[in-house]
Amino acid sequence: MVSVASRSYSTTDWQLGYRSLSHEYDYWVTEIEGRIPERLQGTLFRNGPGKLEAGSQRYGHPFDGDGMVCAITFVGGRVHFRNRFVRTPEFEAEEKAGRVLYRGVFGTQKPGGWWANFLDLRFKNPANTNVIYQGGKLLALWEASAPYRLNPATLATEGIETFAGALAPNQPFTAHPRRDPATGDLMAFGVQTGPPSILVFYRVDAQGRLVEKRDYRLPSFAFLHDFVWTPRYWIFFQNPVAFNPLPYVLGWQPAGTCLTLKKGEPTRIWLFPQQGEPLQLQTEPGFVFHFVNGYDVGDQVVVDAVLYETYPALEPGADYLQIDFAQVPAGKLWRFELDPKTGKVKRELLLDRSVEFPAIHPARMGGSHRYIYIGATHAPGSNAPLQAILRLDTTTGRSEQYSFAPRGFVGEPVFIPDPEDAAEEAGWIVTVVFDAASQRSQVVILEAANLAAGPVARIPLRHHIPYGLHGSFTPQTWVEADPNKG
Ligand code: CO
Repeated sequence: MVSVASRSYSTTDWQLGYRSLSHEYDYWVTEIEGRIPERLQGTLFRNGPGKLEAGSQRYGHPFDGDGMVCAITFVGGRVHFRNRFVRTPEFEAEEKAGRVLYRGVFGTQKPGGWWANFLDLRFKNPANTNVIYQGGKLLALWEASAPYRLNPATLATEGIETFAGALAPNQPFTAHPRRDPATGDLMAFGVQTGPPSILVFYRVDAQGRLVEKRDYRLPSFAFLHDFVWTPRYWIFFQNPVAFNPLPYVLGWQPAGTCLTLKKGEPTRIWLFPQQGEPLQLQTEPGFVFHFVNGYDVGDQVVVDAVLYETYPALEPGADYLQIDFAQVPAGKLWRFELDPKTGKVKRELLLDRSVEFPAIHPARMGGSHRYIYIGATHAPGSNAPLQAILRLDTTTGRSEQYSFAPRGFVGEPVFIPDPEDAAEEAGWIVTVVFDAASQRSQVVILEAANLAAGPVARIPLRHHIPYGLHGSFTPQTWVEADPNKG
């Protein structure tokens, strides 16, 4: 047992960050602590569940919450904030009805018990996982269906993005595309869970056109959240999870709770070369949601990932707000060295800490990286909410961090490169921190090369933002830095 006194946080504080934000804002932040770096210009888009209930019914899992996109614009030393919900037809219908009409994939059942959910396989696309700007299109992503396109200036929902009909309106498209820094092309995939599972690869060029689509079959069920792209391979870790659809189809349980880790089965690692047949390697069982990056070294491939040794499932009917973090499996940073010739896989623990939401300098994507930035618990040891931003130097093994404990809870760090310095550590780490003391969120800017020194700027918002998922940065801006408009 962990005594309460040794904890870096209070559960009541943590729970406060999971209240919905119903208001849609549009304003300049007037009081900034510190100074916005002059060369930091552009827009940080973030996505996450903004609304966690319909009417009086709370969704069973935050991953079922309705996508709310925030645009945080840095321009001329000033900061502008805007948030809008992704107005999917399901969101609008539930708003109008004032109750849950759709089953959520992760934990939400329609009210009325099993018979109201019996054989009801319709689920909603909450468009809540990531948001990325590519070739003039701002896309809100959710992996089991097609992207929603938003207006980058107003965040108004424009509709489902089918890339001129290349995607069906409900076709799976990952929330984790990866951009080739050399061409600006976006690599993405979608998986129709089987067995057999159909894995489709997409390439979207810098003009936002879908220019490549290939599909493969994978034996058995595949739950693939993220992947690794290198100039030679597309790499997937097929975690040994089984999906028993019966309780879902019969209406007893939401789909996300029907996953189990198959004991004694390996994780299959699939390497898809740019041409030809895929190679299959195997490693110890484990579960990866997020990869840091991967790169080719001679004939071998290095892959860094956050690995869970068991699947961190939420028990059916459990309340996520009452979760005991000390009992939740911790994700840790591991390095995998893959040898496609011999089939050998070597793995090594890089950092014995509970971490999530990895980031690197975007120009290092698919090439070698030295530094990893990641959300971390305040201290090593027992699992807890993410309260610190940590930097690991993979060459020396040294890490440094800045912690917002006891009352701050961090989101995903995003690396924003310094436009005038190409060095890997030149740039800023920007994250959104929920501050339980003020019950509001802050946008925080840290110097990537000197995390431990703490924020160079804290930008307190007028409200909180419910704990978010992923986001991305573009140097483009859509609001004018006119002080008269403040
Ligand atoms: Co993710």
